Amino acid sequence: MKPYIHPEPLYPYRDWTLEEERYEDEENQRSESLFAIGNGYIGMRGNLEEGYHGERGTSVSGNYLNGFYDAEPIVYPEGAYGFAVVNQAMLNVADAKIIGLSVEGETFHLNTGTVLAYKRTLDMRRGILRREVDWESPEGRRVRLTLTRLAAFGNKHLAAIRYEAKALNFDGTLTFASAVDGTIARPLNTEGDPRLGAGGGLPSLLPEGMEHGGAFSWVRQRTRHTRFVLLTTMSHELSAPPGFERSRTAAEQRLTEEFRVPLRSGETAVLTKYIAYHTSRDYPEEELLPRAEALHRMAVREGFEPLLAAQKAYLDDFWKRADIEIEGDPALQQGIRFNAFQLLQSVGRDGVTNIGAKGLTGEGYEGHYFWDTEMYMMPFFTFTMPEIARKLLEFRYHTLDKARERAGIMAQKGALYPWRTIAGEENSSYFPAGTAQAHINADIAYAIRQYVLATGDTAFLVNQGAEMLFETSRFWADLGHFNPARGGAFCIDAVTGPDEYTAIVNNNAYTNLMVRSQLEYAADTADLLRESYPKEYERLAEAIGLTEEEPRLWREGAARMFIPREEKLGIIAQDDTFLTKKRWDFENTPADKYPLLLHYHPLVIYRHQVLKQADVVLALFLLGEQFTREEKVRNYAYYEPLTTHDSSLSPCIHSIVAAEVGELESAYGYFDRTVRMDLDDINRNAKDGLHTAAMAGSWMSIVHGFGGLRLPGGQLSFRPRLPSQWQSCRFRISFRGCLLEVRIGREETDYTLLEGEELELRHGDRPVVLKAAERPSMALPSMEPPAE
Ligand code: BGC
Repeated sequence: MKPYIHPEPLYPYRDWTLEEERYEDEENQRSESLFAIGNGYIGMRGNLEEGYHGERGTSVSGNYLNGFYDAEPIVYPEGAYGFAVVNQAMLNVADAKIIGLSVEGETFHLNTGTVLAYKRTLDMRRGILRREVDWESPEGRRVRLTLTRLAAFGNKHLAAIRYEAKALNFDGTLTFASAVDGTIARPLNTEGDPRLGAGGGLPSLLPEGMEHGGAFSWVRQRTRHTRFVLLTTMSHELSAPPGFERSRTAAEQRLTEEFRVPLRSGETAVLTKYIAYHTSRDYPEEELLPRAEALHRMAVREGFEPLLAAQKAYLDDFWKRADIEIEGDPALQQGIRFNAFQLLQSVGRDGVTNIGAKGLTGEGYEGHYFWDTEMYMMPFFTFTMPEIARKLLEFRYHTLDKARERAGIMAQKGALYPWRTIAGEENSSYFPAGTAQAHINADIAYAIRQYVLATGDTAFLVNQGAEMLFETSRFWADLGHFNPARGGAFCIDAVTGPDEYTAIVNNNAYTNLMVRSQLEYAADTADLLRESYPKEYERLAEAIGLTEEEPRLWREGAARMFIPREEKLGIIAQDDTFLTKKRWDFENTPADKYPLLLHYHPLVIYRHQVLKQADVVLALFLLGEQFTREEKVRNYAYYEPLTTHDSSLSPCIHSIVAAEVGELESAYGYFDRTVRMDLDDINRNAKDGLHTAAMAGSWMSIVHGFGGLRLPGGQLSFRPRLPSQWQSCRFRISFRGCLLEVRIGREETDYTLLEGEELELRHGDRPVVLKAAERPSMALPSMEPPAE
């Protein structure tokens, strides 16, 4: 592994906050992603309320609603049957967080006058973004401004801003100009980076009226293609000395409300703005206005303070269950909390939305949901907020019919989930690294199994999980074949595994291994239902036409699954041909040619032994019980030097496997690189949105990597080891209704049951029955030295 050198911190290390101590145009887009706030539905980039005076390109104004999209037809100059036909892109919606300020006619901007003091804080315990600025106007008037912004965790439609402005050295008029602006167009992708998506250029939202009403003002728009309605609304409350004036104006798709407040030196005016988004994705069109009105009335009646209290209460509970403490490393401490917090801010929790590759922080990957959810984000939620994990799986259930349709288009039985999507349809226009990644079916099956094992939520398995498992298993049974050329082994051809630098191969080992495990689980689930839930089984079997024969076929496919191996090297071959290819010439590839995908044609890359991201290595982690330690060591040693980690999904997996094979320094290095990926802007593209999978991966690196959490045979098991850089590390996980705290010290591990009466677990090879009042301390399990 190339060592990762910690750069000078871009932001100071703080335990519970992210802070910016000065504003700079050049860094602004990155900060807009990092200082984003969200509640799983609304996402707002950290744009300044007053707008920008910097050069063009200083800012990407971003307001997103999870699952709200337009679908543009994909135009292929050279198309073919079955290509994805539409691109569902998360929309940048009307901007309602605009509040301009002028001081006796002088407009406040950070690039005019003098900024005497500045601090911006993302407070992860309180769930707010706060900005404190002392500003002197060009003519010498000073104001102290404190702005607090939040997206309510307790009500997905609601966001609010409190703007306090104090006159410091003058008597005069302050004017707040609060607006909602609906004229947003998605920026065209001019950088040629495929990860950004096409961009729009044209506005996707068409005007359908607006009005300054009594209780609130509204702008109504409709998406160009999907014909969804969006209602963006605002209301205000002003607390100021008497004598202020209020006026309202309307221009093209922009409503503005002005408050002119006479202040004497030392006095403060406080404007509170409530913002709500409602769409016809959630409610019938005619309900949007009354719903918005009710919400604004309630918000104004109750005020800002209860919202703050509710944020804090929500986060108290979240941190109680999800916090990780790292003693001895403030940079990583901040990183791991930031990541957990941003995941919470971006995750959909209503069963019909999910979590995008960039969350709700930017437009990279167009807001699409990928396998990232099941393999990266789900473990975090399954073990900390299982109710959210269930919602993520419900999203897949909700889109199962579309997966069935997709399988049909692909001339297969059962269901094939889309590689990238918002509403359930396949959105990938580059099929070699899209539809060909059928492993997403097995990834979803894996996540179902892990969720059910960790929660004991059999009701979910019976009522929803089984149907997904059966339909996706049907797909595999039909796609694969007992291949006479391989002695009758079950082979799966023309697929792409997780490593996108190798495409359309036969027998990608990761896929075959994961499918084997899925088919066994699906057959076990069929047995379970048949024996213990016969009515449900019958109903389901009838609904989907499941025959007795099918689960038998799944077992047979699993039993005869072909796993490519290289006997001389004693390793798993990534696929049928990978090991026969030329190795990539790493020595003569300069650093500025990475990521390779931006500098070489895909075919050039496909012809070489070079990996974008963990593939076999990912299987070593996920299906660890199926490999001996020696196999893990040999495979890791072979694939690690060939892996570029050009995907941000990769280093965390290498960290976990490195920890398992005893290479703790290397594990630490990979973890380090993952956990501060966005805070240090390691991939130089945090401006396009945060790397949510890597964020979740950093949690996995601690809990699965250093903590060694696995579920062999369904049993909770740990094999803790602590990197030499740390004094201790403490994390909590939820398991079958219990809340467990694990504290790994230099010599020992303490287990404490914080909720629940009794929990069975394994510490290394030792079984432990943990009782509520006990806190056993156990020596770290011995670790074999890394093999030569
Ligand atoms: C990775 C995929 C991932 C996608 C979205 C790509 O760069 O190779 O594995 O799903 O990004 O995060």
